[in-house]
Amino acid sequence: MDSFEGARAVVTGGASGIGLGLAGALVERGAVGAALADIEEPALDGAVQQLSATGAQVVGIPTDVTDPESVEALADASWEHLGGIEVVCLNAGVFAGGYSWETTEDDWDWVLGVNVRGVVNGIRAFVPRLIEAGRPSHVIVTASIAGVVASPVSAVYCTSKFAAVGLAESLHHDLGLAGADHVAVSVLCPGMVQTNINRGARNRPAGLGHATATDATVLAAAGIDDAMSRGIGPVEGGRNAIAQVLEGRFYVSTQPVEFWNRLVAAENEDRLAGRPPRFQMYE
Ligand SMILES: NC(=O)c1ccc[n+]([C@@H]2O[C@H](COP(=O)([O-])OP(=O)(O)OC[C@H]3O[C@@H](n4cnc5c(N)ncnc54)[C@H](O)[C@@H]3O)[C@@H](O)[C@H]2O)c1
Repeated sequence: MDSFEGARAVVTGGASGIGLGLAGALVERGAVGAALADIEEPALDGAVQQLSATGAQVVGIPTDVTDPESVEALADASWEHLGGIEVVCLNAGVFAGGYSWETTEDDWDWVLGVNVRGVVNGIRAFVPRLIEAGRPSHVIVTASIAGVVASPVSAVYCTSKFAAVGLAESLHHDLGLAGADHVAVSVLCPGMVQTNINRGARNRPAGLGHATATDATVLAAAGIDDAMSRGIGPVEGGRNAIAQVLEGRFYVSTQPVEFWNRLVAAENEDRLAGRPPRFQMYE
């Protein structure tokens, strides 16, 4: 799509952070309707109120992206409320940190459930409808720069985000093979953004409560929280991402394009030379 004028969007993880930033940026670019989907209902109500102030038609739809039925219900409800959907942001995501050898089964199930199965559920529920509708439309999968460049104490998260990048690239190829040229794809690879992701455990299912317990001093030494405190704001990040989508980019970021170019170039130098990857902080 080269314009979001008149578009209607659905955003998972839309109650907070990057999801709300994306929804706001889409409305700034002319979108007239947004369905915000999230598991955290009080935050969802607040986000709906905030975005409705723009004059756009906004609806909040409580959704658990790990549950295929819940995501199918989201597709039905968003179509029904807005009369159609042209932009699908599969954005909900969570983080769990720790040494890879100390990770718990619950961390793998929780993070892969939201960050990978959540995207799969979204593709399965929404893409057939976008193909069928026949209008120009766009799927934006939120992965991470951690889906291209790995970092310490983030094995579960990086694994999930490398998978999300693979899913988005596969979706692009599948749509080409199917001749569904009216459905475009971008993969959003944010760097550090100041959001609530480091408080993600607030939405963790009680049944997956056994978290990795790597020593706090190790986590602090890795510098993730520290780097996030210097990250970009979600409003500016959403604007950057949507501007890059409108430029026709497949790989987009919350940071300026130079950020993506610098980190990927260094990663690729190591890959081409056969060297182990250097450590690059995402800022
Ligand atoms: N913040 C960063 O620095 C950063 C960097 C790279 C990628 N990302 C990615 O951006 C996306 C958004 O994260 P954020 O940073 O805005 O965090 P956030 O915690 O502010 O927002 C994430 C939203 O997802 C929702 N969510 C969690 N589990 C859910 C579920 N099962 N079903 C539906 N909704 C669920 C949360 O309630 C929350 O509203 C995630 O995919 C994250 O991995 C964030």
